[in-house]
This record gives sequence, C-alpha cells and structure tokens, in this order.
Amino acid sequence: MNNIKLFNGEEIPLEMHKVKIVQKLELKPINKRLKAIQEAGNNTFLLKNRDVFLDMLTDSGVNAMSNKQQSAMLNADDCYAGGESFFRLEIELQKVFKKKFFVPAHQGRACEHLLSRIFVKKGNIIPMNYHFTTTKAHIRLQGGDILEIPIDEAFNLNSECLFKGNIDVTKLKTAFKQHKDKIPFVRLEAGTNLMGGQPISLQNIQEIHSICKQNNVPLVFDASLLQDNLFFIKTREESCKHKSILEICNEIASNTDIIYFSARKLGSARGGGICLNDEKTFEKLRELVPLFEGFLTYGGMSDKEMEATAVGIRETMDFDMISQGPQFIKFMIDELNKAGVPVVTPAGGLGGHLNAKVFLQHVKPEHFQAASLASALYIISGIRGMERGTMAEERNPDGTENISAIELVRLAVPRRVFTMSQLKFVVDRVVWLHKNKDLIGGLKWKEEPKILRFFFGKLEPISDWQTGLVEKFKQDFTDSL
Ligand SMILES: Cc1ncc(COP(=O)(O)O)c(C=O)c1O
Repeated sequence: MNNIKLFNGEEIPLEMHKVKIVQKLELKPINKRLKAIQEAGNNTFLLKNRDVFLDMLTDSGVNAMSNKQQSAMLNADDCYAGGESFFRLEIELQKVFKKKFFVPAHQGRACEHLLSRIFVKKGNIIPMNYHFTTTKAHIRLQGGDILEIPIDEAFNLNSECLFKGNIDVTKLKTAFKQHKDKIPFVRLEAGTNLMGGQPISLQNIQEIHSICKQNNVPLVFDASLLQDNLFFIKTREESCKHKSILEICNEIASNTDIIYFSARKLGSARGGGICLNDEKTFEKLRELVPLFEGFLTYGGMSDKEMEATAVGIRETMDFDMISQGPQFIKFMIDELNKAGVPVVTPAGGLGGHLNAKVFLQHVKPEHFQAASLASALYIISGIRGMERGTMAEERNPDGTENISAIELVRLAVPRRVFTMSQLKFVVDRVVWLHKNKDLIGGLKWKEEPKILRFFFGKLEPISDWQTGLVEKFKQDFTDSL
C-alpha cells in the first residue's frame, strides 16, 4: 500500500490491517520515569518493560502476528519427530527460497553458529557488506575474521543513495585477489541492521553472486531483514517495479547459495533456519542440529512457532503487509527531518535513527552522546530507544575508550504494532527534546562490564542535568506526562 492523500493535502501511510488483540500500556509521570532510568543506570536495556510506554528498543520477536498466524498455531502437530508443522514450514520456505533442504534452528544466531562451525577455519576472512553483532562473534569464535566492504556511501548518514547496504564490487574483487584461499564464503545481509536497516539491490546481489561463482565460493545470504528489503527493491529498483514480491524473492534466491534467517524478524514469529541446495553441506549441518538445537524436524522451535513462521513467510509475499513498516518509519523520519532534528536518511527498514553526534554536539564523545540522548528521551517520553555508539564498542587493547565514529539512537518500529497517533507522539517528544537539547548533559561509567557493555553496563550523569530537564518538561507539560 502506498501513502494515501487526505482531502487536506496531507499524505499518510494507511494501515491495511485492523487491531484485534491489544495490550494495555501505561505512560507513567516524569518523576517515575526519572527514577526508573536512574535505577537502570541510564541503560535502556536495563529498564523494566512495565516502566516503558513505547518500546522502540528492537523489532526482534515483537512484531504483531496476524489472525491467520495465531489460528495456525492451534494446528500445531506437537511431537518430537516428523511432525506436520515442520513439513508445512519446509514447503513455504521452498516456495520463496527455492532450496531443496531446510535445516531448522532456534533463532538467527544459531544458524550463524552452525554455518561458522562448518565453514570457518582459523585465519579465514569473510567479506560482507556489514557485520551483525552475533555474526561477527560466531566467525571470531571459530578463529576467523570479517572484512566489511560496503560501498562508500554506506557511511554517509545523510545520503541520497537508495541502496546503502550494497557491497562494493571492486573491493570484493580485490579481496579475492588478496585472500583467495582464505575466503570460505561471502556474506550478504539484507536490510543491514547495524547500518540502520539500509537495503541491498537485486542488481548488487546478482553481481556479487557472479563474482562468488567465478571464485567457487558460496554466497551466504542473511535474510533476517529481507521483508523491508523486498519493499525497497520493489519501490526503488526500476527493473523490479512490475514484479511481484514472490518473483523478486525467487530471483534473490536463485542468486544466493545459502539463505539463513531469524524468524523473530522474517515471518513475525520465533525461530529460524538455513535453506540450501548443496547436499554435502546439508549433511554436515544435519550432524550438528541434534547436538546444538534439537531433533531435525524442530531444531529448537516449538511446533506452534513453526506454524506461525510458515504463515508469516507466506504473508511476507503480500506487498500491503511488508509496506507498513518502511512507510511508518519514513513518515517518522520525514517529520523529524522537517522539524530540523538530525536523523539518518534516507529512512531504512527496522526503525529510524537519531544522529546523536549532531543532536548533542555540546556533549563530549567520551561522555556517551547516544546513551545520553536515549536516557533523556526516555525521561521526557517513556520511549525506549537503543544506544548505537561508543557504549556498544569494546575498549581499545591499550584500555582507552574506543570512541565510535557514529553515535545513533535507534527507534525501532516493530511491524504493525504502533498506531499513527503513537508515531505522532514520538515525533512531538523528539522535536521538544531537540528544542531543549542544551539541557542534556553527558554520562560516565558507574559499572562497566568487560564484555557486552551495552547490555549490562551502568552509567551516571556527569552533572545534575536530568533534574533541569525534568523541571523544563514540567513547565511545558503541566500534566507531567
Ligand atoms: C541481520 C540479523 N542477523 C542475525 C540476527 C540474529 O538473530 P536472532 O536474534 O534471532 O538470533 C539478527 C537479529 O537481530 C539480525 O538483525
């Protein structure tokens, strides 16, 4: 569904679904929010969900399911081995990905674990458009390393480029010249998560695949965020305008050798798996599944999850269904952009991103600009975003802080979850915060874990700026909400 034009001239994305089950939300007053974020050490991961109004931390496992997914779950053929739920999922995957074999796994990172185990050896290098945290961790665990070779535009936060997720073809050719025998596969991630949900084009997939074929290595495709990427290919790539989503998906599949996915994202359910044609690789993967995941016809997923994923994958071929996410995100980003708030453009899938380096120019980078902004936003709105900056980095080997070149606050927009008025609330509060940005100060470590700092770390304000922010908010919003 494209935007609809209202009589007053305004264009809005119109939801092509209705809400049949709801969860009650609470917008707690600002004093309670201040207390909650202080207790959470200014880390939005450590907030309790009961204190959150709009949870924009992630889209993982929190997309809304359709009535057909829910009813399919009642059809689950609960059993340990050979259940119908597995075969129903396998058939749906064969329709979209055109691969003979399906290896089930409990979620996306489990697929990465299995693939890394069979492909990656010490000293290997895996070229890719961009890493995802769990991908990098699993490749490194096996002694390999990653080589990120996206196009240069990928790092331009305000670009006109429509496919910032593309791999730089020349850099890939050079990588093969320099490291030929060290490359077991090339990885392409659809809707690159850590680049802000930026898509790859079908043309790029075709080019990369042909280079892989020339070099005799498989192209591994991470389809976790394929849903939004399919929307962008259809709406942005001239040669695909008249193709159906299924046709585009089939073409992607015929230009990739191994496809894996997290069904927490693709299919709006839970679980994951790997689809492939090569029998030898399948046999190797098959040996690992009972060891790490579960029996071959469930791989760690419940039968209900497999049923929901099967229907979710089928529904992903519906243009109305997949347009909702990217259109809502674009609406939010366009409105913020118009109001002068620094955001990453063009809008991608998965969520919108505030550019904290520009938003909080007066805060020193070593005082965690993105974390400070995420904390301030929660205090004044109850909106939970995610820090994507220095806190998410690891310290340098010499112990100094590794200041991230990019400081973003991600506002994920789980698919079919939020309403238009909730999005307008987000825009309103972010704009207010931008107008009052000088009241926001920095943060410093209170408790710094050695690994995965962004999950567990606690920070504290370097001055009493949070009280000043709360006072100004109360002046402008006398109901304290
Ligand atoms: C692109 C991508 N790959 C892999 C994963 C890992 O999937 P999971 O969270 O299901 O383990 C994610 C999760 O966010 C992702 O976005």
